[in-house]
Amino acid sequence: MWIYLVAIVGLWTLLRLIRERKVVSHLQDKHVFITGCDSGFGNLLARQLDRRGMRVLAACLTEKGAEELRNKTSDRLETVILDVTKTESIVAATQWVKERVGNRGLWGLVNNAGYAVFAINEWLKKEDFAKILDVNLLGMIEVTLSMLPLVRKARGRVVNVSSVMGRMCFFGGGYSISKYGVEAFSDSLRRELSYFGVKVAIIEPGGFKTALNDRHSSIIKMLWDQASSEVKEVYGDKFLQSYVRTITSLVETCSEDLTLVTDCMEHALTSCHPRTRYSAGWDAKLLYLPMSYLPTFLSDAFFYWSSTKPAQAL
Ligand SMILES: NC(=O)c1ccc[n+]([C@@H]2O[C@H](COP(=O)([O-])OP(=O)(O)OC[C@H]3O[C@@H](n4cnc5c(N)ncnc54)[C@H](OP(=O)(O)O)[C@@H]3O)[C@@H](O)[C@H]2O)c1
Repeated sequence: MWIYLVAIVGLWTLLRLIRERKVVSHLQDKHVFITGCDSGFGNLLARQLDRRGMRVLAACLTEKGAEELRNKTSDRLETVILDVTKTESIVAATQWVKERVGNRGLWGLVNNAGYAVFAINEWLKKEDFAKILDVNLLGMIEVTLSMLPLVRKARGRVVNVSSVMGRMCFFGGGYSISKYGVEAFSDSLRRELSYFGVKVAIIEPGGFKTALNDRHSSIIKMLWDQASSEVKEVYGDKFLQSYVRTITSLVETCSEDLTLVTDCMEHALTSCHPRTRYSAGWDAKLLYLPMSYLPTFLSDAFFYWSSTKPAQAL
């Protein structure tokens, strides 16, 4: 009985792998637009696709980032400055892309630009939540809506970068909220666009060492400084130190191999049969994703017992 079950699962996995290995044709004629290419996953993906011969249209937040990227890549790769929180910047970038792709349309749109703050909700103001939602969620939505006619023309791909924190929330602040939103937006988009032959993939990385993660401790201290004296008294200095230590040690355990993420993005853009979701990194696959399926009382108990308690809770 067990032997049949193992054989069926093995055969299914093998067939799936063979099916997923089939690559779309004429990659060298296909344009891919990527947001947030100054650093991290976006920067690496731009270089990776450029090496593969694709026509990369890389959007950077700063001219310095754009120049550094151009210096490392072929003449095929072109850059544009884009701030995803500004409508006029998105309109200008869309026009720029339109001029380059012509009648072929845009094969790939990678919504990668992002920003992160992990903190205690009570330390934050409404503007702190708004700032992150503006970049990670509303920015992604506006860029997608603007580029969609071009992607539809090519019957192409939309690749949205979410996170394991879009499946399970373990820190306060707007980051997880924005990534839960990315999951919902991508799910509805995938269903709507399937009628037009457009495929939507969601990338859910675990923890990786990028600029985004390097900034946490300084941002947390800045947010603590802005908290009211009552909140500071409730939590206490010891809590802050322990919270920063926890985040710092989490960042230290993050993977340095960013290709685990960019290979998933590349597969979503180049495979004839891309996946709907990609879990990138062993922590995502073996810890966070399984944990997200646990009953809530168990995951709550895990966080309760493993975290530092505020001063007034002791
Ligand atoms: N690293 C991780 O552990 C991890 C895990 C899960 C998901 N992610 C997601 O992966 C994506 C890429 O992050 P990363 O880790 O590669 O970090 P990163 O190196 O900081 O890359 C994020 C990029 O987005 C850019 N950006 C920030 N605000 C922007 C705006 N308003 N408009 C346009 N671009 C903007 C940044 O530019 P500047 O550098 O100039 O600020 C940077 O180039 C993000 O969506 C992030 O949420 C990361």
